[in-house]
Amino acid sequence: SILIIDFGSQVTQLIARRVREAGVYSEIAPFNNAEEAFHRMQPKGIILSGGPASTTEEGSPRAPQCVFDCGLPILGICYGQQTMMMQLGGLVEGGGDSGGEFGRAFVEVQKPCALYDGLWSADEKHQVWMSHGDKVTALAPGFEVVATSEGAPYAFIADEARKYYGIQFHPEVVHTPDGAKLISHFAHQVCGLAGDWTMAEFRATKIAEIREQVGTGRVICGLSGGVDSSVAAILIHEAIGDQLTCVFVDHGLLRMNEREQVETLFRDHYNIPLVVVDAEARFMAGLDGVTDPEKKRKFIGAEFINVFEEEAAKIGGADFLAQGTLYPDVIESVSFTGGPSVTIKSHHNVGGLPERMNMKLVEPLRELFKDEVRALGRELGLNDQFVGRHPFPGPGLAIRIPGEVTKERCDILRKADAVYLEEIRSAGLYDAIWQAFAVLLPVRTVGVMGDARTYDSVCALRAVTSTDGMTADIYPFDAAFLSRVSTRIINEVKGINRVVYDYTSKPPGTIEWE
Ligand code: XMP
Repeated sequence: SILIIDFGSQVTQLIARRVREAGVYSEIAPFNNAEEAFHRMQPKGIILSGGPASTTEEGSPRAPQCVFDCGLPILGICYGQQTMMMQLGGLVEGGGDSGGEFGRAFVEVQKPCALYDGLWSADEKHQVWMSHGDKVTALAPGFEVVATSEGAPYAFIADEARKYYGIQFHPEVVHTPDGAKLISHFAHQVCGLAGDWTMAEFRATKIAEIREQVGTGRVICGLSGGVDSSVAAILIHEAIGDQLTCVFVDHGLLRMNEREQVETLFRDHYNIPLVVVDAEARFMAGLDGVTDPEKKRKFIGAEFINVFEEEAAKIGGADFLAQGTLYPDVIESVSFTGGPSVTIKSHHNVGGLPERMNMKLVEPLRELFKDEVRALGRELGLNDQFVGRHPFPGPGLAIRIPGEVTKERCDILRKADAVYLEEIRSAGLYDAIWQAFAVLLPVRTVGVMGDARTYDSVCALRAVTSTDGMTADIYPFDAAFLSRVSTRIINEVKGINRVVYDYTSKPPGTIEWE
């Protein structure tokens, strides 16, 4: 295994992810707790992460001495490189007025090095991603320069005898195209690790951790029908069996048959205790007259917490609340490039729930990214169709019905959406699309059906490609496909007499209409 010592970088989890991708187990330990982790794990290599502090400040974080005494290979990244220099007898200086390097840079390779062996050659230039103010200005004894960049004469340094490597750039981010390979090289070639670690082992490790955390306590888990909460619940159930109860709140804003699918999967297939709450009437009453998108979100989030709390009280005695929180939810917004961000939409559906319920959290997916959760889901026996489901927002259909939300309009939208998704699936396009859904507009237009005049709602179709939901592009359906969907919706869904296709990327649009 590899121990990653965290100095507080926003992207430390990406290092762990790259190590996992290389088939090697890793754990992240905060720098001030790393010694304990080191003795417990007995790793074969150490990675020192980046971090926001300056090694030139008094009292700034340091790696525990044991990592330099143990004779293991070390890879120091950014702050990790700098603290390694400070601790081994080199020098680091603040960027001062000359500033640092931020963003794309190029390193020029000077000499051979085991860390890039077979990947780069001397005299080549390679793109890397930099984000530093301070820089190393004198090397510790034993180190040599491997590569330089315009702003960092010691961008890549090595002490081959001790297998210590220091890089100023960030190999863990995708903007360093060969970065993942450098990290896997460190794990395999430098540390001699085999690369045979799999999701099966992640599952086993997490199950042991959940058992240890929960003991004989009781856990409740709110299911949304999505992949994350489902995978979390199934994993926790495998760990502690019927000490877990799942609660599924049907707020009436779900897609067609979603509630039945959850019931079948959890009760019948996995045999997990499940409470289903039919709260449609409550939600519809509360949404009466609400047209502002943020007010819809706020009401739905708050009411969800109310319903969930009531159910938890009925179940009684739960000590833990399980959530399918993923790593991107933890960092909230990756502020790697800095800068304040503005709230465009408040996505936090049940923010404040844990504090209010005064329960301890069980969050077994906290360090995973979405595609890793999908892989874990497959490992737990979920089928491809389930783990590949498009994301669905917590406020559900309410934010796909601009204007007032009523049960009648939800029913209309549900039918149109089901037709659209059915056609997408049968055309074999579902997996090529990040998200596809119908939107029911608060606009009525005139049409003619048979010999009669109609005056009904417009339905908009949306389909986008994306890798993370942050930016998105329009999915280019062919005209025949769109006409087929349009004809079916108008023929089959009473209340809709016109269908349009949304041709807006993100930015400037958002994926959802509200
Ligand atoms: P936007 O519309 O902001 O959506 O481009 C980006 C991604 O977030 C989802 N989304 C939400 N998810 N609660 C959620 O859980 C919300 O209030 C919410 N609003 C948008 C959206 O479906 C897309 O995947």
